[in-house]
Formats: sequence, structure tokens, C-alpha cells
Amino acid sequence: MANTILVGAQWGDEGKGKIIDVLTEQADLVVRYAGGNNAGHTVIVKGQKFVLHLVPSGILRKGKLCVIGNGVVVDPVGLVTEIEGLRKFGVKVAANLAVSETAHVVMPYHRELDAQREVLKGKQKIGTTQRGIGPAYGDKAARVGLRMIDLIHPERFAEKLQARMQENNEVLKALGAKPLAYQQVLATYRAAGDFLAPHVKNTVVLLHEAQQAGKSLLFEGAQGTFLDLDHGTYPYVTSSNTTAGGACTGSGVPPHRMDRVVGVMKAYTTRVGEGPLPTENAEISDLLHGMGREFGATTGRPRRCGWFDSVAVRHATMVNGIDDLAVTNLDGLDTVETIKVAIGYRSGGKPYDYVPADVDELAACVPVYADFEGWLTPTSKARKWNDLPAKARDYLKALAELSGARLSIASVGPGREQTIML
Ligand code: IMP
Repeated sequence: MANTILVGAQWGDEGKGKIIDVLTEQADLVVRYAGGNNAGHTVIVKGQKFVLHLVPSGILRKGKLCVIGNGVVVDPVGLVTEIEGLRKFGVKVAANLAVSETAHVVMPYHRELDAQREVLKGKQKIGTTQRGIGPAYGDKAARVGLRMIDLIHPERFAEKLQARMQENNEVLKALGAKPLAYQQVLATYRAAGDFLAPHVKNTVVLLHEAQQAGKSLLFEGAQGTFLDLDHGTYPYVTSSNTTAGGACTGSGVPPHRMDRVVGVMKAYTTRVGEGPLPTENAEISDLLHGMGREFGATTGRPRRCGWFDSVAVRHATMVNGIDDLAVTNLDGLDTVETIKVAIGYRSGGKPYDYVPADVDELAACVPVYADFEGWLTPTSKARKWNDLPAKARDYLKALAELSGARLSIASVGPGREQTIML
């Protein structure tokens, strides 16, 4: 398999974890390039459910090298817990996991600031995962962040931490929150640093050497196109470049080495947190929640649900250069009699065939829908294209045509075997 970037084509939670797991079979290395443990990638292997937050999903397959790239923000305590959890299930995590020495570290004051800022924002809150992601990337941009290379050098870390905690404790006090205890943070982070030290590497060189040796790389995107800091529904976004461009800056692999972009999308739309969602619909939300589906993998929050939005995915195809589409959760629509798909928006008499950059303008947009007849047949046992009901095939073909990319994968359930390759 050539070097492939996999991105979410909607607002995150598209089922990327499962598709990455399927594609990993043909890759040698799996690379995370953005986000942190705000992500939750669910993979089910032989009935066992794994939710991965920082470790690339490739860890679940033998012989794959997994890389947490420089563009990721790493909560070291969270990462230790995740590694220990995987080991408990007999998953090998050793030299098959490398963490970039220049990845920034998420600190307890980042999490506290994340929470405090959300409270301050009141009704304008973003609805973050409260994992400290925004403040950690903020420190990176302000050039005051601590990196993995600092974490594994105890003296340097102790010194830098003291300065950072002095400033951040003042900010926390000003916000009415409790300051954090330096010694306690130091001890916890030192322990995590010792545990993680064998994994911390110069991943830019490692990835370069892997390419020279003819290995294929799979870039595991986190979140989705419309949560991208630059291309999403700002300010209701995460703080990293989740789109395909982020794979280059977040790993150090140059653009001309990338061969293919796969966009993952649900057969409908979901979003967690605040911000506009043009096709949001109570009927489909109730149906999916009633089936026990669409609860956040990281926070457990019920996801907001809506009809498939082809305006949004077409926009995602443009921004990411999506070649191939993977459609997930088709089986979620098995009982719907009439399925709606947004084929355009209108606002104040003006038609839109793209997602307006201004959230207020987007919030005022009303979708223009096309109706599709439901197939009203269970699809979760389908394994080949022709196993699918004709109406489901027509629906999938229409989604791909409207989205402007090739349909390559259809997923009808969380298991590896519930995947139709086209
Ligand atoms: P943050 O990344 O925790 O700062 O959250 C910012 C926004 O991105 C919020 O609306 C979150 O719900 C959303 N978000 C962050 N990570 C994910 C994810 O992995 N899936 C879906 N939404 C996410």
C-alpha cells in the first residue's frame, strides 16, 4: 500500500478507528499526527472492544510500528494508563511504539484552564472534551510548552516546570480556581517520563528511514475536517490541523511522499459539543440513541445527529483532496423509511454549494434535501457489495457521487469482518 492519509470528512467520530484497523493490514507503520487524548478510536477485535485515545490503532496488529508524531499533544499520564490497559489484554507495546521527542506535553494546568475557560464562556462554550488540548496547543504556539524531550530529562523538566507552574498558578488563582502543587505534579510527571522514556525518539528520522526502506505509512487522522483549527467551524473546533495537510506538518513527512487520501464518513452526520450542524434532526437523533448508538467514545456524551450532509463532505473532499471514501454505520439507517440527504443550503434566498466560513452564516443556512427510499432490511451481515439491498447500494452510490470521490469501503458494523471492500 502506498502512503495513505486517513481523515474524518465530517465532525469527528466517523468510525476512523475501525477503517484504520482494516487498512493497517497493508501498512507497515501507523502514524498519529494531530490531536491528543481528546480522540477516541474504537476498534473491536474478536468481540473485544478497544478504545484508543493516543496510541495509533495499528498497535492491535502484530508487526506494525506505531508512531505518535510531533503534531500530537501527549498527556503522558493518560498514555501510560493506555499502554498498561493494552498490555493487560495481552497487546504488545514495546519497541513497536515510538513517541516524537518534539511532541508537546499536556500538563494538569492545561486541563484546569480548559475547564475554567469553558465556565467563563458560559453559553458561548465550545463543549471541549476538557482534556487540556486547547491550552496545550496554545502554549506550543506561544513557545512556552514542555515537550517529550524535556519530560525525559528530569533536571531540565523540573526547572522548566517550576517557571510554567508559577505563571499558570497565578492565572488559575485569578480565575478563582485552586493552584496546583508543584511537587505533586513533578512526581507524577517524572514517573510517567521514566515509563515512557524508551519510546521517545526522533520520529522524523525514523519515518524518513522507513520510507527509504520502501515501507508504507498510514497516517491516522483524529477528529474531523470541520473540527480543524483553520478549516472547521471556528471557534467550535479543536486546536490542531486535523485535515490532510496536518499529516505533513504533524509528522515531518513531505507532501510529495503522500499518495492517497481516504475520507471516512458516516452514512448520516453526528457532532459532539457546540457549534452549527445544519442537518441536525430530532427524529434521527432519537432513533440512533434509542438503538444505543452515538455516545462519545471519550466523554460518553450523546452525540448530536442529523442527515447526511453532502455539502459538508464535498467541502471536505476539496480541502483534503480525498480520493477514496469509506462510508461507515450504513446499518444505522436500516429501519428508516425515507432517508434525507442535504444537497445544498439556502440562506436569505441565497443558495450555497459550499460550507460558509463564518459560523453565523452557516448557522443561518437551511438544508435543501433530496429524499431516498429506505431499504428496510438488516445490512449488518452483508460482506460483499451484492449482499447489500439494491436501495442501500443506490444510496451509497449517490453519497459518493454527491461527495465527489470514489466509494472504496462500506462498513455495516463495528467488527473487522463487517467491511465491504469495493
Ligand atoms: P477539544 O479538542 O477537547 O478542545 O474540543 C473541541 C471540540 O472538538 C469539541 O466540540 C469536542 O467535542 C470536539 N472533539 C474533540 N475531539 C473529538 C473527537 O475525537 N471526536 C469528536 N469530537 C471531538
